Amino acid sequence: MLSTPILLDYQSSTPCLEDVVNAMAPYWSEIFSNPSSKSNLASINASAILEVSREKIQEYLFLKKKKVIFTSGATESNNLALLGFARNFYKEKEKYGHIITLKTEHKAVLEPLDQLKKEGFQVTEITPNKDGLISEAKFISCIRDDTFLVSIMMANNEIGVIQPLQKISQICRSREITLHSDCAQCLGFLELDSLDSVANMLTISSHKIYGPKGVGLLLIDKDIELQPLILGGGQEFGLRSGTLPLPLIVGFTKAIEIAVLNQKKNTEKFIFHRNNLLNGLLANNSGLEINGSMQERLPHNLNLTVLDVNGSKLHKSLKSKIICSSGSACSNGKPSHVLLALGRSFKEAEASLRFSIGLKTTSKDIEKSIQIITDTIKSLR
Ligand SMILES: Cc1ncc(COP(=O)(O)O)c(C=O)c1O
Repeated sequence: MLSTPILLDYQSSTPCLEDVVNAMAPYWSEIFSNPSSKSNLASINASAILEVSREKIQEYLFLKKKKVIFTSGATESNNLALLGFARNFYKEKEKYGHIITLKTEHKAVLEPLDQLKKEGFQVTEITPNKDGLISEAKFISCIRDDTFLVSIMMANNEIGVIQPLQKISQICRSREITLHSDCAQCLGFLELDSLDSVANMLTISSHKIYGPKGVGLLLIDKDIELQPLILGGGQEFGLRSGTLPLPLIVGFTKAIEIAVLNQKKNTEKFIFHRNNLLNGLLANNSGLEINGSMQERLPHNLNLTVLDVNGSKLHKSLKSKIICSSGSACSNGKPSHVLLALGRSFKEAEASLRFSIGLKTTSKDIEKSIQIITDTIKSLR
């Protein structure tokens, strides 16, 4: 009988926690009314639950200055933040300006910025240092008089590196530049008690933190104005029309509560397994290189390049035994633009593995994975 593969790809998505599923249960068929219609008691009740969810999120994330906007996920949040802010800037100032980002951002940031380039804005993509971190000096040197928007992710989804966002934030604030940060991979993995001050706009996803798929958040400073991308009923302060998915929102709120509550405890577990995986692989194999800084890194992420093996054969051989990734879940099988930006060759980028540890990962999973990967590398060399 075939054994199920070991899952080490929790940065791609996570399963809903039981408490999250239980929290959502009444909202599918019992409390199902439209939370934006105030025409009957059931809808008023649904609307109250929606607003309670919003308030709970503000409380769990220590938010006093941010507007909480529900979206369909981090992709939509990034699109709304970047397209919405830049288009509003143009409407108000009647001029295009300059935007700064990192080459290693998720495509859900890079593609909307490509769209803005087509519309007339200028975009600088900074190449990070070899360890994946942005150079402060390089960042400052890219700022122009007309720079009005910066988008720098808090932590990278492929190589896990944590950017010095507080420093970037100070630099932006002193020049009155608006800062957006994609934090899709951070909640529950980093201590996030200063989200209010760390950036003007923040993106958060539910399905990366053991919540349901199809819901996310954009947190924005209360004075930020955006042009909506979706027009209609005027929900979410007129910024995102459409009936809100109350079951998903309730589940997401529960997932945020649990993620924040258990962050410290889970971090120890993630680091323990991640480091055992790394040390075991390094002890048993030559020619492994770590991608990204190990010091400034998400606790559950590991990204390695395996030298002197064929990347597609490596992934094919591992596929039935270990679920891991060559890059982001959204890279459509192309070699990772993140690893290429770090200076990896096409061949090296293809022969790279991203492992991400999850709440269900066990020591046995790690031991077996070390054995399987070691055997696979030996057979391919
Ligand atoms: C950093 C980052 N941004 C955005 C996304 C897209 O998130 P979602 O699936 O919630 O749209 C992901 C998902 O892989 C991600 O890792």
